[in-house]
Amino acid sequence: MNPCAGRAPSNAPIGIFDSGVGGLSVWRSIRQALPGENLLYLADSGYAPYGDRSPDWIRARTAQLVQFLLDQGCKAIVIACNTATMLAAAYLRAHFSVPIIAIEPAVKPAAALSRSGCIALMATRRTIESTGLQNLISQHAAQVQVVRIACPGLAERVEALQLDGPDVEHELHRYLKPALSSRADTLVLGCTHYPFLRPSIERLSAGRFQIVEPSFAVASQVRRRLHAAGCLGVRSAGGHSVFISSAPPAQAQPIIQALSGLPRMTVQPLPTLDTDSSYALPCARSTFSQVSI
Ligand code: DGL
Repeated sequence: MNPCAGRAPSNAPIGIFDSGVGGLSVWRSIRQALPGENLLYLADSGYAPYGDRSPDWIRARTAQLVQFLLDQGCKAIVIACNTATMLAAAYLRAHFSVPIIAIEPAVKPAAALSRSGCIALMATRRTIESTGLQNLISQHAAQVQVVRIACPGLAERVEALQLDGPDVEHELHRYLKPALSSRADTLVLGCTHYPFLRPSIERLSAGRFQIVEPSFAVASQVRRRLHAAGCLGVRSAGGHSVFISSAPPAQAQPIIQALSGLPRMTVQPLPTLDTDSSYALPCARSTFSQVSI
């Protein structure tokens, strides 16, 4: 079956979403790998961080975001948020038939790269505590020790464009300590916000770790899935990016502009998403009614 057939033309956008601006690290890789594709990036910064939200809330909110992106004509969805993947990817795939490509903490490649037999993983509290992560580790990294570091507050730094300086470095140093005092030689950035802190992380760890973050692997997976579904864009360049944020545009604009590196762009506001609208599928309705967003 071709999941894109009859739904969206090949020049339809790929919808990419994150709890905020972190997923721009994934947008950047997709744009580089697929320069002819139109991209619609949705930053849910008005509701970030997701890292301390309940699993029910994350499932309900991300279902709304996916429906919104589909209403804009997106031909595929990229979950550019590890927390959303861990808590909601299976749920979203069960409720939407469009191709959904989801980033996840790169413990598998990190375990394969490690020579010391020990890797460290920085991620949100929700990701660190998830059974999804536990399953990933049991399946792909059972032979290595995994130092798991929950980093509350770090995504908020990136949301505020605080990428370096004494305050951020102090916080990062605290989070890096368990990794630095272990045998870890490989560090997984298990939150899409963290690649924007990479220069600070590298400075503070003095090059001690090989750093793994899977945004290019996600971009390759997007290409494979679109090709398999028959809806890969036909152009080899000239794709456009549109940015939408649930934060006030005046606040979102300078941050998305800085992190995207685009000289000219405009951030559009996300309309209020109604929890009772028609995309609250019957089987999801009970969840939606219990969760206030
Ligand atoms: N960027 C998100 C991730 O990859 C999470 C940040 C947040 O807590 O909202 O997990």
